[in-house]
Amino acid sequence: MNKKPLIALLSLLISSTTLWAQNLVKLLPGKDTITINKHIYGHFAEHLGRCIYDGIYVGEDNKTVPHTNGVRNDVIEALKKLNIPNLRWPGGCFADTYHWKDGIGPKGKRPSIVNTWWGGVTENNSFGTHDFLNMCELLGTEPYLAGNVGSGEVQELADWVQYVNFDGKSPMSDLRRENGRDKPWKVKFWGVGNEAWGCGGNMTPEYYADVYRKYATFMSDWTNSGGLFRIASGANSDNYEWTETLMKKIPKSLVKGLALHHYAVIDWQKKGSATMYTDEQYFKTMKSAWFMNELVEKHSAIMDKYDPKKEIALVVDEWGGWYEVEPGTNPGFLYQQNTMRDAMIAGMTLNIFNNHAERVRMANLAQTVNVLQAVILTEGDKMLVTPTYHVLEMYKVHQDARLVPIEVNSQELSFNGESIPAVSASASIAEDGNTHISLVNIDPKNQQEITIDLSDRKYKNLNGRLLTSKKLRDYNSFENPGYIKPEIFKGAKMKNNQISVTLPPFSVAVLALN
Ligand code: AHR
Repeated sequence: MNKKPLIALLSLLISSTTLWAQNLVKLLPGKDTITINKHIYGHFAEHLGRCIYDGIYVGEDNKTVPHTNGVRNDVIEALKKLNIPNLRWPGGCFADTYHWKDGIGPKGKRPSIVNTWWGGVTENNSFGTHDFLNMCELLGTEPYLAGNVGSGEVQELADWVQYVNFDGKSPMSDLRRENGRDKPWKVKFWGVGNEAWGCGGNMTPEYYADVYRKYATFMSDWTNSGGLFRIASGANSDNYEWTETLMKKIPKSLVKGLALHHYAVIDWQKKGSATMYTDEQYFKTMKSAWFMNELVEKHSAIMDKYDPKKEIALVVDEWGGWYEVEPGTNPGFLYQQNTMRDAMIAGMTLNIFNNHAERVRMANLAQTVNVLQAVILTEGDKMLVTPTYHVLEMYKVHQDARLVPIEVNSQELSFNGESIPAVSASASIAEDGNTHISLVNIDPKNQQEITIDLSDRKYKNLNGRLLTSKKLRDYNSFENPGYIKPEIFKGAKMKNNQISVTLPPFSVAVLALN
């Protein structure tokens, strides 16, 4: 009997099983024409809990924490290392209660108000417009101001634009000069309200679209090159009707960005602990985070109908994991620890944004310091950076790089009959010619063997960095702040036009090729 056909069939079966059993990331040949807008790597700082006060601003008179004009030096240094491209402020829900004129002029004379959304605490307005915009200059980041539409007035927001942006003589620019700042800050990014469907006024999309049109009309600035980048308050997660209505009703001349908010949450009524979560809760969080992929695609498809040239950006200006607050802390302060689960959310979500960079051109992780999925936590004069911080630092190579389109075939991570991809990836070519591939394995127990097919792309050198830890639930604590940090990655080998990667459980790797 001729055994050759049988052997051939068997080896075909074995090789296809291997391919099937492995994860495959294929870099598609092509021109790589889309840029990953650096603004996808934006942050968000709200007057909420200990984000601004304590976390960022300790006051000019503070004698225990080193600061520059009241802003913590340690936080500035850490944020600078992330190259943060933009910072959204002052909210969030707080934005629609904020009257910017309360936060200018001599600090002793500023009125105190109640922060009605976040803990009912007294807000003394000592951190205001000048403090924020000067801090952005210190950080080298672009400010993104969220205007008060819910409880404000059209004139109030128009005045804010004039106050911060007008170079000539006007009532508002004169006032700015009286308060010690001659040159305008030239703020480009402006949110026209926040969550208008909820804390921003519980509006219907039809009503908000009209309100938006009115506000946007009066927020004019002839001196800002390219005009203002006005961002409409967008949908809550999968409220596709919101996006449809706004796209239909708001003229393109009035809007540059449409927002979207989505948090990775297990259940809004039972959010679970930030550190002591079950395997099921881990899976559910990751499923909710992976839902971002569907959200981005479906909202983009609606936008495509009205804006086929993709002139309006999808701006995911709030994203991240949301859990119960740390035991013993104020429930209104949203202070949570940050484990390797959060690193998984960050790595996966940023891969999603990168891969949809044609439409997603701005995003803001919620929030910067001491609130929700923070990159920084503080305690008195101590500061630590979280696993999420390290992912943002590792991924900064993608900022303004050219997206390399990829195809990913991944093993599934399954739990109780539900499944999501275990491996996610994105790739880009930086200005210096280096190609970077970011890979995430969210499987909490199994390493993943990944084959990267480089197609017709040729490289000589391969380096890598890895973020993982001994246990999924590990975090950086004030006792051991440097416990989780990136290390050199040795699990990738390049041969011809293929890279074989062994990615440990719950890890993020970024490969650099040249
Ligand atoms: O980020 C916390 C809050 O979540 C924001 O203030 C609000 O916009 C959202 O609901």
